[in-house]
Amino acid sequence: MKFIDLRSDTVTQPTLEMRQAMYDALVGDDVYEDDPTVKRLEELAAEKVGKEAALFVVSGTMGNQLAIMTHTKLGDEIIVGANSHIVQHEVGAAARLSGVSYAIVDNEDNRIHKEDVLAKIRTEDIHHPDTGLLCLENALSDGTVVPIEEMKELYETAHLRNIPVHLDGARLFNAAIYLNVDPKEICKYTDSVMFCLSKGLASPVGSMLCGTKEFIKKARKMRKILGGGMRQAGVLAACGIVSLEKMIGRLKEDHDNAKYLANRLNETEGFSVDLDKVQINMVFCKVEIENFDFIKFADKLLEKGIKTNPGERGSIRFVTNKDVTREDIDYAVESIKEVLQDL
Ligand SMILES: Cc1ncc(COP(=O)(O)O)c(C=O)c1O
Repeated sequence: MKFIDLRSDTVTQPTLEMRQAMYDALVGDDVYEDDPTVKRLEELAAEKVGKEAALFVVSGTMGNQLAIMTHTKLGDEIIVGANSHIVQHEVGAAARLSGVSYAIVDNEDNRIHKEDVLAKIRTEDIHHPDTGLLCLENALSDGTVVPIEEMKELYETAHLRNIPVHLDGARLFNAAIYLNVDPKEICKYTDSVMFCLSKGLASPVGSMLCGTKEFIKKARKMRKILGGGMRQAGVLAACGIVSLEKMIGRLKEDHDNAKYLANRLNETEGFSVDLDKVQINMVFCKVEIENFDFIKFADKLLEKGIKTNPGERGSIRFVTNKDVTREDIDYAVESIKEVLQDL
């Protein structure tokens, strides 16, 4: 059975070109920094975001955690959004691996504002931990994008107090496309940035952590501590190169498909999507139907070949990706309507 997978963009299948690139890749032992394909990917990634250096890591989570480990010292506090991936979906790793605590900013719009940073930065006091890092996200986990002026303001505010900034840019290129800017423009306002190859860019594995040469040198050692030193990783890096050279340009199609899906969901009684918040490839659909059984809904859709995550907090997230076409979306919407009648 062919499935239409709307759970995430992490589900994308590697392209034929990626599979060929894996086959052809020149490889070496990357712990000895001997793998030419990994090196090429790291140079390309650094260049794309306007940083001096980059490190190929296993996952976005590893990239974020390495950034925290590298920027902070044991006992520091990091400023971070309540609904950020670092807080919600990284198993509390920052506390466990870096020994830091969280100063959580909990705003309705999921953004961190200048006043929040000013309020959360710790003052010199024997009772306080040191503020070690400001963690931002763009695009945000809720699928919206933070304007560059806001990032600039946050970066300048943190830097005035000598606090470095890390950007979780898992979907950095989606954010850049929405803002219609070069990703370098976004990354000007962060000291380090992590972006994922394995989401909309369709690589099977991998993310990049980028920053200064000195920062990446330290992060490379931290990666070894975590057991993330890879050997002939060029077979994976080869896909990353295809992602960066060939897959960025088509992300706009995912955004357009998300808008299309959102509009069609709005035709459906009891379902509503705030169209202003459909900015990248994510659609958050509010369900206003009494006693709606989210699990049963997802199960029934699965029977029709559509994979979705069961909803959270009264809302279902649908994510478009390169393996989902307009026709797939039409089929998904028709199936949703049918399932709703049967529930
Ligand atoms: C905003 C954000 N940051 C980080 C990650 C982590 O990426 P990974 O799943 O590769 O660990 C994700 C993954 O979904 C994400 O959405």
